[in-house]
Amino acid sequence: MGRVDQALRRQAWARGGRTDSALDRALARRTPLPAAGDRRVEVGSGFSPRPGYLHVDALPGLPQLDLVATDALPLPDDWADEVLAVHMVEHVPAGRLQDVLRGWRRVLRPGGRLVLHTPNGTALARAYLDGGLEARWPVLAAMYGYDRAPWDASSAGALGTFADHRLLFDLPLLSHQLTEAGFTDVTDVSGQDPECHHSRDWAPWVAGLCLEVQATA
Ligand SMILES: C[S@@+](CC[C@H](N)C(=O)[O-])C[C@H]1O[C@@H](n2cnc3c(N)ncnc32)[C@H](O)[C@@H]1O
Repeated sequence: MGRVDQALRRQAWARGGRTDSALDRALARRTPLPAAGDRRVEVGSGFSPRPGYLHVDALPGLPQLDLVATDALPLPDDWADEVLAVHMVEHVPAGRLQDVLRGWRRVLRPGGRLVLHTPNGTALARAYLDGGLEARWPVLAAMYGYDRAPWDASSAGALGTFADHRLLFDLPLLSHQLTEAGFTDVTDVSGQDPECHHSRDWAPWVAGLCLEVQATA
């Protein structure tokens, strides 16, 4: 194990917390960790981990997962060049939002980049109001986070019983929260990510489903 990895392990352990053994496993699997300039972390990578990132999720057993962590990332201060969170932040309870955003800023180096995708409240409100009654069910599925693809969400019964979105943002609300957490230069880059399967899948039901922003730590 290299000197950098040992230092990371010491720093993470010094901070304490439940995820030390997870960091241990990640360090064991990835020796050495990415060098400065190439330290990209994807939080909430789920079943769609993006290549080139250290993958973090609250659930164990997901593909290409490096760290199991909820909210507090077991990484050192000022470490990462980029934090990516694709359709994850809407799962955070409102009362923890600032802690999570500040946690991401903590691990980013000054000038590092946050890339965040989340359902766009403005686009969803438009789709809800402009569609007919039946068209509202897939929109509600996206708003509330029912575990259904839009093509399987055509009625109340079809949505099922499980929904896990706790937040819904438009650009002003998200910018305000990011600024409060200490980020600067919040920029709307919606529609510019060709890898975003959410926008693509939902396009026939919700135009511009994803609110995509970048911000600087
Ligand atoms: C809707 S999935 C998105 C997965 C993937 N990023 C994508 O775009 O397909 C949300 C993911 O965030 C994870 N998640 C939710 N809250 C989390 C938290 N507080 N910390 C880490 N991961 C979390 C969930 O376990 C889930 O895998």
